[in-house]
Amino acid sequence: MKHSVSRKCGFPVNGLVILAAVSALLVACGGSSSPSETTTPGPISQHCGEISERPWCDASLSAAQRAELLVSAMSLEQKIDYLAGDDPQASASGDPYVGIVNGIDALGIPPLRMSDGPVGVRGSPATAMPIPLALAASFNPALARETGAAIANEVRNKGNDLVHAPVADLVRNPLAGRSFETFGEDPLLATRMVVEWVKGSQAQGVMANIKHYLMNTQEGIVSVPPVAAVVGGRSVVNAVVDERSMRELYMPPYEAAVKEANVASVMCAYNYVNGAPACSSEYLLKSVLRDEWGFDGFLVTDYFFAQKDTVQTANASPMIEMPYGVFFSQPLLQAAVQSGAVPEQVLNDNLTQIFRRLFSVGFFDRPRYQRNDDNIDQSAHAVLAQDVAEQGAVLLRNEGVLPLNDDVRRIAVIGASAQTRPSGGGSSFVTPFRFKTPLEALTERAGDDVAVSYYDGSDIVAAVAGAAEADVALVFASNLATEGSDRFCLALDCTLADAPDSLLLNNLQGGAPTLLDQLTDPVFASSPIREVLDQLFAPLLLGAPLLPVSHDNQDALITAVAAANSDSVVVLQNSGAVLTPWREQVNALLQVWYPGQEGGSAIARLLFGDTDPGGRLPLSFPEEELDNPVAGDPRRYPGLANQAEHSEGVFIGYRWFDQQSREPAYPFGYGLSYSEYSLTDLRVVRDEGGVVVTARASNIGDRAGWVVPQLYVGLPSPAAGIEQPPWALKDFSKHWLAPGESASLRYQLSSRDLSYWDDSAKDWAMAAGDYQFALGWSSRDRVMQQQLSLGGL
Ligand code: BGC
Repeated sequence: MKHSVSRKCGFPVNGLVILAAVSALLVACGGSSSPSETTTPGPISQHCGEISERPWCDASLSAAQRAELLVSAMSLEQKIDYLAGDDPQASASGDPYVGIVNGIDALGIPPLRMSDGPVGVRGSPATAMPIPLALAASFNPALARETGAAIANEVRNKGNDLVHAPVADLVRNPLAGRSFETFGEDPLLATRMVVEWVKGSQAQGVMANIKHYLMNTQEGIVSVPPVAAVVGGRSVVNAVVDERSMRELYMPPYEAAVKEANVASVMCAYNYVNGAPACSSEYLLKSVLRDEWGFDGFLVTDYFFAQKDTVQTANASPMIEMPYGVFFSQPLLQAAVQSGAVPEQVLNDNLTQIFRRLFSVGFFDRPRYQRNDDNIDQSAHAVLAQDVAEQGAVLLRNEGVLPLNDDVRRIAVIGASAQTRPSGGGSSFVTPFRFKTPLEALTERAGDDVAVSYYDGSDIVAAVAGAAEADVALVFASNLATEGSDRFCLALDCTLADAPDSLLLNNLQGGAPTLLDQLTDPVFASSPIREVLDQLFAPLLLGAPLLPVSHDNQDALITAVAAANSDSVVVLQNSGAVLTPWREQVNALLQVWYPGQEGGSAIARLLFGDTDPGGRLPLSFPEEELDNPVAGDPRRYPGLANQAEHSEGVFIGYRWFDQQSREPAYPFGYGLSYSEYSLTDLRVVRDEGGVVVTARASNIGDRAGWVVPQLYVGLPSPAAGIEQPPWALKDFSKHWLAPGESASLRYQLSSRDLSYWDDSAKDWAMAAGDYQFALGWSSRDRVMQQQLSLGGL
């Protein structure tokens, strides 16, 4: 990102300056300094052992030489031992790791400890950061680097070597249960975030494990009658997808993590891709990841059900089976080696690659990371969490009530989620170091002169009466989302019964009671099925109940309050895109996502205008339930017979809305500031590498604030039948501008940026024709546009 500004920590970051400045920032703003991945150990490794006995401990040798020496000293049993995890109970026991590969003392091989995840350390109190979707909404990759560094710093201070993060998957289906863990629907935005996150993590000496490679686009729908079943479930579903869509949409974040951030590790996904398990696909693992992109780290399987066999997986890639060895257990892998199905040389090569990476990051030569919470700078990380929450908050509507002014004397705060900490379930569930509710933070910020009353919303009549008496009514709303199950519909509150028929879910369900009814039914509650469900989900949710909050009808609550008070503000603390049928009736709408442990304070500052909402939407908000590329076609979602046909191709997110000429409720990239801005002086010129776009952004309002110019490009179609998305984000920047201040913008596009994936040539290609370059405030608000004719490539 060019010209970005990280305001809270007070220094401008611009292009390469980001790189130099971030290490200083980490010390000043949150992280502790630490060995970087490139730190070369001294010639004698103090922690590995005696060189005379263990020649691989000679740190003057290359990582490759050391790895080969080590592997040549291992017995077959030891080799197999290090290819699988050992302690599936880790997360359940409360130890601050979610997986461990036991060390081999006799050889000086340390245990390898792994932790989740994208929102913070799991299984032990930690800084609960805003969800990755909020980070993506910040449109500030420098914040992604700081977040990666802060989380990795905690991962390390809990005694772990590797973090299962960031998530590099895209939102194809807004119902997807793990949308909140992603960086949204656009490959460029996700790529920028992933790369910086990985760099931040690995600069802390913690290996990043990006996940879930590839096409983990759905979790499936948990359906109960007649027996618990997951329809289109992640570990059985086969993503049927064309190569162009993978290359242009789903692969770029992974590709860049390898090429630009030298990511240490990749987690392969539960699902199948075009018939092959993601964890043993020759195409994904060998042809693309290793041979094309040059990945020389190692892979880790997703937990329990991702690895599907012994032989193909062992032959496909250097892979560690997690959380313990099933297919890579001693009996199965020994048998495979003895039968010749997996030559021992393959295991040697795999282990050599794993150890090469471990040697090169100093894993053998440094002291073991110890658990010590005192080494975590909790207040600095809290400052960062709040900064991300503020910079990721998207003001979707403001008819003038925000920011709250001094005339406001009575505030009605309404809604259960004003008093809770909404967060996603599953491996991204974090127990925070500390937490202040939005209600507490607002009451504090409002001060003694303002009366704050609270209504939880369960009694709509009382809430409406309270709203009518107040100067301003703040309605808090939220939704539920978790790994392991997709959402049933896009409304704030919904159960299986609310899912549209076109998703076939009601048909699958056969008119039986809703999931909620089933789960709360006393007979069902004591049945073995419920027990099995609990077994499956309890460890994932780590103590968070399966259905943490039961909202009645938040849409009705919002509508009623809006009718009672024209200065009503909705604050959404939710997992991703939701329907906002009442949006024209409320005065303002602030989308803060699941905002992490500092969310309350961030919300208070934003509402009172102590800062400017810095977020822009990282995914489109649909107008209606069926406004998404997979709705209405069960072959696409959840898939028939577990075949999820990604036949929408490259048209997901705003690419789909544009292609269909449908109006979203709020488009990708959209978000208001408390100030106003102009864009001028657009110039688009060719240069040797590609195209350079320049312009100027100015703050023409009377408040300082965030401006996020976005560059969209429309590519010409190379041939009949090869349709291009009307617009695709190609660059963006973020600036904090004082009133009257302006920033000069410069975006450099390479020929790859202007290329499409040519299926027949199996390569990137630039079509000859007219290219449209548009600069604007969202995918739908393109302020200035210029055309350039370019030759092919
Ligand atoms: C998730 C991974 C996570 C792992 C370990 C799996 O269920 O899919 O993202 O890292 O659990 O917690």
